Amino acid sequence: MILGIETSCDETAVALYGELGLVAQKIYSQVALHEPFGGVVPELAARDHLQRLLPLIDQILRDAQVQVADLQGIAYTAGPGLAGALLVGVAVAQGLARAWNLPALPIHHLEGHLLAPYLETPPPVFPFTALLVSGGHTQLIAVTQLGQYHLLGESLDDAAGEAFDKTAKLLGLGYPGGPALARLAQQGRLGHFSLPKPLLDRHSLDFSFSGLKTAVRLAWEKSPQTPQDRADLACEFEATLVHVLVEKCRRALAKTGHRRLIVSGGVGANQRLRTALTTLDAELYFPRPLFCTDNAAMIALVGYWRRNLPSPPPSGLTVHARWPLPSG
Ligand code: KG4
Ligand code: ZN
Repeated sequence: MILGIETSCDETAVALYGELGLVAQKIYSQVALHEPFGGVVPELAARDHLQRLLPLIDQILRDAQVQVADLQGIAYTAGPGLAGALLVGVAVAQGLARAWNLPALPIHHLEGHLLAPYLETPPPVFPFTALLVSGGHTQLIAVTQLGQYHLLGESLDDAAGEAFDKTAKLLGLGYPGGPALARLAQQGRLGHFSLPKPLLDRHSLDFSFSGLKTAVRLAWEKSPQTPQDRADLACEFEATLVHVLVEKCRRALAKTGHRRLIVSGGVGANQRLRTALTTLDAELYFPRPLFCTDNAAMIALVGYWRRNLPSPPPSGLTVHARWPLPSG
């Protein structure tokens, strides 16, 4: 069994994954801690991980009645993410690994998101095309097997989650913005604002959402700013962004010839996106929303798969705040 640790941003998470799949997981969310600041404060995030992580590990082992002798390794997120937050995970993982005489397995956070659909049944079969939409990344990736990731397109500026968060802030919705904006959008009506559909006229599979964010700001500033305007604009923004994501997925599937599309990362929890993707002629795989956003189950799973493979860099007490997903 592998113990997984995730501390790349604002969730402290641990999980146990073994031969029979996911055994247990725990997530401690820092939302309340960062809420008064309107966004994640990196130093506070790191300090809070430091306080929560060891008790959480202790608790998961006790609750699942798993002994240290049952563990085959400790997988931890080594990047990308907030450097201070990542350092807590790496220090705890490496320290415990040394104390318990186990291998420490550095895991790429995006590989975790990419393989999160394997936490569900039925799992997808390779090859597939993946839409990875998180707070920091928007990528289309052709996946042929474990470790074989070919980047088809990515965001040239704001990531999809970042666009959600910034737009939410602009509309006065605070942090965490994505889910709040999605909730408000349910009360909105389409067609009351007109927004550009970025990069759809080009053949590339890259994304650009910063223009959309600016268009929302201009539209908001010009509007009477009633509660209904706010909901309508949230709705139009969400629909526009979803439309672009779905169209690029359609093109990516046409390019790769894959029949399967997997979606993961925090924005993968978005219901409008999930519904819109069903219009594609593809077998769809979404992890449940809990496995779309940051969690340690996906890190433990990748650790389990990689336990007998040579570790990718970085090893030792190193983290990579920026770390491109190695492509094959
Ligand atoms: O994958 P994730 O938990 O963390 C990163 O690795 O970035 O993604 C977080 C992002 C945030 O930008 C958040 O606003 C967005 O995912 N998000 C959503 C929803 N739930 C989370 N965006 C839109 N609709 C949602 N329901
Ligand atoms: Zn993430």
